[in-house]
Amino acid sequence: MIFVREDWEVEKIRQSALLAWEVLSSLEPLMVPGTTTKEIDQEAARLIRERGGRPTFLGYRGYPANICVSIDDEVVHGIPGDRKLEEGQLVSVDLGVTYDGYVGDVARTFLVGEVPPEKVALVLETERALWKGIEQAVEGNRVGDISSAIQRHVESCGYSVVRELTGHGVGRELHEDPQVPNFGRPHTGPRLWEGMVLAIEPMVAMGAPDVVIDPDGWTVRTKDGLPSAHFEHTVVVRRGRAEVLSLPEGYA
Ligand code: MF3
Ligand code: CO
Repeated sequence: MIFVREDWEVEKIRQSALLAWEVLSSLEPLMVPGTTTKEIDQEAARLIRERGGRPTFLGYRGYPANICVSIDDEVVHGIPGDRKLEEGQLVSVDLGVTYDGYVGDVARTFLVGEVPPEKVALVLETERALWKGIEQAVEGNRVGDISSAIQRHVESCGYSVVRELTGHGVGRELHEDPQVPNFGRPHTGPRLWEGMVLAIEPMVAMGAPDVVIDPDGWTVRTKDGLPSAHFEHTVVVRRGRAEVLSLPEGYA
């Protein structure tokens, strides 16, 4: 069941999504060598609760932390712990906020100190791939138009799309219909209608697309050990131009 949201509901999701993005951005000063991933988790939870929100991921399908922190070859769902950040790493933080019954979901990859140029490029192009997808989130298109735009961009850079995980509808629940894969064919999949709210989130591997799951049951990492990056925004489908609910007005 794909929901088309009333404007008042879109505003609720916007509140949560904006809160999520603000908290995510506030974590930037922690992205220095020596910070533990647990410290990032604790600071995020503090900032979310301080603003009256709840960390959506905590307890979701048994997930044991407030946010996901995934380093280098870890693609997504890294569990925060005692591990210390090191110079040159890519740190992907994925964060969900529930506020007044509605969910916002965002992610971005941070750089720790000086990072090799190939890794910087991976991060920039992954964010660009997200924007290629966002551009397609307009009424009259289909989900496959988002998917294929992301895939095209990623593969034109020589990277690969991780296929095991997808974007998704978001609203009252973290994961709602439809799934939004990061690969696919144009003009296929569910039709997009004004008011559909989607979390679009390319997960991009520098090398091969294959991933494995750690014994912890959560951490998804590239099989070849090469780095990956992840960006996510919560957007609402509109006529002519998608609206990014997780960014302040005038930002995009
Ligand atoms: N943001 C992740 C996803 O977008 C969800 C993390 S799931 C959790 O869909 F279990 F880690 F919470
Ligand atoms: Co998501």
